Amino acid sequence: MKLALVCLASLLVAGQTLGAPGKCGRQPPAKQGRPNFVVILTDDQDQLMNSLDYQPYVKRHLIDEGTSFSKYYTTSATCCPSRVSMWVGQFAHNHNVTDENRPHGSYYKFQAGHLDNNWLPLWLQEEGYSNNYIGKFINGVDKSNTAAPKGWEHFEPLVSPGIYNFSNPIFSLNGGPIESFPGVYQTDLILNKSLARIDAVAQKKDTPFLLVISPTAPHDEIQEDGTFTPPVPAERHRHLFPDAQVPRTPNFNPAVQDKVGWMRDLPLLSALQVEEIDHHYRQRLRALQATDELVDSVVKRLKDRDLLDNTYLIYTTDNGYHLGQHRLFAGKQTPMENDINIPFIIRGPGIGKKLVKSNPATHSHFPATVLDLAGIKRPATLDATSLFDPAHTESFNVEFWNNQFTEGGSTVRHKQNSYKALRLISQKHNLYYSVWCTHEHEFYDMKADPHQLSNKYSTTDQRVLDRLDALVTVLHDCKADVCKFPWQSIHKDGQVKSLDDALEAKYDAFYRALPKFRFKSCKVYYDADNEGAE
Ligand SMILES: *[C@@H]1O[C@H](CO)[C@@H](O)[C@H](O)[C@H]1NC(C)=O
Ligand SMILES: *[C@@H]1O[C@H](CO)[C@@H](O)[C@H](O)[C@H]1NC(C)=O
Ligand SMILES: *[C@@H]1O[C@H](CO)[C@@H](O)[C@H](O)[C@H]1NC(C)=O
Repeated sequence: MKLALVCLASLLVAGQTLGAPGKCGRQPPAKQGRPNFVVILTDDQDQLMNSLDYQPYVKRHLIDEGTSFSKYYTTSATCCPSRVSMWVGQFAHNHNVTDENRPHGSYYKFQAGHLDNNWLPLWLQEEGYSNNYIGKFINGVDKSNTAAPKGWEHFEPLVSPGIYNFSNPIFSLNGGPIESFPGVYQTDLILNKSLARIDAVAQKKDTPFLLVISPTAPHDEIQEDGTFTPPVPAERHRHLFPDAQVPRTPNFNPAVQDKVGWMRDLPLLSALQVEEIDHHYRQRLRALQATDELVDSVVKRLKDRDLLDNTYLIYTTDNGYHLGQHRLFAGKQTPMENDINIPFIIRGPGIGKKLVKSNPATHSHFPATVLDLAGIKRPATLDATSLFDPAHTESFNVEFWNNQFTEGGSTVRHKQNSYKALRLISQKHNLYYSVWCTHEHEFYDMKADPHQLSNKYSTTDQRVLDRLDALVTVLHDCKADVCKFPWQSIHKDGQVKSLDDALEAKYDAFYRALPKFRFKSCKVYYDADNEGAE
């Protein structure tokens, strides 16, 4: 079994660059020969406002040396749900950490669900890995709740109120006493701690390791009164990029706002707000510079310790961010592309260099990807396959159950922001279909309308909408293989494997007759009785 898995991974990964299926015959790595993983996980970094263009070391060490996934997504655009999906390999409706704070989210909800009984760190540890975490884990790690979850040898999270204060990081190691570092720039301290961990794991030659490095940048700073303000860069980066502006894509503060629900009623942003947005943007780019330097130092240290060649280095974030698109001021939590499409770049043994892959994938694909690369059998509970799986994912639901929180000074909460948004991406299609708790719908054909400017729900072929709605129904409460192969659960005979198969005219009557997905009401948490096909 292990041989088959490793074979698959190396064939797929290496096949791209080397075109060498012969590689497939090699032995699975012995436990001692297993690869290491270093994951750099930023907070709220956008893919679509070009932040990566301002990170030359990410380009040099990751983009040019590895493979970028251009269609990588979070399926719940806010930190806790997204980060939890990444480590447990499940969509938010299965782990049910759906919010930032108690009672429906945070570390408290994670603990109540005992999610650390069945997650990637534990699966790796069982195979002999030394797991290390430094930086932001999730909200709710606070001074009275620092107990480490299972699976880590070295768990050193940022502790509230030091998570979102760039100049006063607070840590606790393995649930021990808290340590504050007033006046020290958070990312730089995280770098120093990370280098020390690399030195420590390098001592144990036969032990493979996972090291997660998670600085808070470019997330907003949060003031003591709860106000969100733009992130604070390191002193040495304060004056960079004085002319940078949010890219003026067609969806930036558009004259025509063709949206549903609370987004429909957003007024045009004023000139003053646009100025604030551009300032916010520059602060994000500046704050990302220390992260970029961190990438360089980490790569150099791995190289110095002779670890780089056997290490997968991954750069990603928890969720995306909007600044001005669709007249949204600042924040995330909408199903719009800016909030959900995020960077994911990987380099390492057998991974193609300077490649961009466009098969869709999500944070729920992360554990299977790591396990495949490590040659470890995947558990059955995973909702998604590996990024490199030839049976590519075609669609997934973006799911959210809460109000929307607007950041950057004015802390507005927009109500009725619970939705399912289906993304379906293949060679031929790039579609978005959503059902909101207000009973409104949206449809964007993103090949024709990549900026989601024109909601075509009322003029789109009902045959297409019927199929997409059926997918939402299946995916909204799917588990494991049903999430991976949703068409097969609609067509048990296995004859339908893609939207194009399903669009055959012989299925029209079947899809027309299917009950449609709806929410009974707008709730701020996942209540299974409140949603489904009628
Ligand atoms: C999810 O958690 C909420 C509480 O936060 C609970 O009321 C709900 O029943 C849970 N949903 C499911 C489907 O387990
Ligand atoms: C990190 O380590 C370097 C070298 O030891 C030291 O000069 C620097 O002050 C440290 N920075 C922080 C933020 O701890
Ligand atoms: C960060 O912590 C320092 C030291 O406690 C404090 O002076 C400062 O006001 C804090 N900043 C924020 C944004 O909370």
